[in-house]
Amino acid sequence: GKVGVLFGGRSAEREVSLMSGAGVLAALQSQGVDAHAFDPAERSLADLETEKFDRVFIALHGRYGEDGSLQGVLEQLNIPYTGSGVMASSIAMDKIFTKKIWQNHQLSTPNYAVLTPDTDLSLVPAELGLPLIIKPPHEGSTIGITKVNAAAEMDAAYVLAAQFDDEVLAEEFIQGRELTVAVLGMGADAYALPIIEIVAPEGNYDYQNKYFTDDTKYLCPAPLDAGLTEDIRKMCVEAYRAINCEGWARLDVLLRASDNQPFLIEINTSPGMTGHSLVPMAARAAGMSYENVCMEILKTARL
Ligand code: DAL
Ligand code: MG
Repeated sequence: GKVGVLFGGRSAEREVSLMSGAGVLAALQSQGVDAHAFDPAERSLADLETEKFDRVFIALHGRYGEDGSLQGVLEQLNIPYTGSGVMASSIAMDKIFTKKIWQNHQLSTPNYAVLTPDTDLSLVPAELGLPLIIKPPHEGSTIGITKVNAAAEMDAAYVLAAQFDDEVLAEEFIQGRELTVAVLGMGADAYALPIIEIVAPEGNYDYQNKYFTDDTKYLCPAPLDAGLTEDIRKMCVEAYRAINCEGWARLDVLLRASDNQPFLIEINTSPGMTGHSLVPMAARAAGMSYENVCMEILKTARL
């Protein structure tokens, strides 16, 4: 039947989604799927019903696409969709809520504080140490993030993040290696793909280095010893299950240099599928082409 590839959208990650969706659309079409582009920023979602789409592949990132609100509409319209359901999507979109759940499961995640307009910002560096990270809890692709090196930089970092969210997340900085782990599948059958290590120019894996430069190096499988590799993959599968994710997701992890302890940073329930993106790279290391991984994800579409 007819498949809608939902991409574009109206979040701050629209530009990324346009790249992800174009890749997914072409891949599905190349496999003989009757796939059509559908940008919910330009169309009414009700058209999915009137135009008799059988199911959709969600290649939207961020608000109104990855956060459970779209998933809720699709449930109402009775249209099967890829990826996590309403609850898991909305929890994963909130980095603070996600951390609370992981802490509850004794999964390692950096210490943090929640900043509101009433917070005395001058006290936060003493609590979390310096440097520290300030980020809007509902954004992606490093949008609105600052690494604060000195207390005097707190105000500007807070103001930037507060443009995106009412509550802002301050996180302990983990000095170490940057890893990412894709997880596919459902419940007890969920499994991790090979770990990727990201080596960004000057350690700065920001929006530009994520999508537009070719200066970032990726090592896949990440050069880690076998025991640590297994521990991290297991931790990521547990973290995925703890949030009740389904279909696919990608977890970002930092490996502390001083003691090789891994820390969970966040989980992305609709990860990037651009030419520079990491899920396709991990899949390739596992012997799956970009087309294969799109077809695998599409198979998981359900209500
Ligand atoms: N938020 C971007 C799209 C990612 O996680 O890949
Ligand atoms: Mg993210």
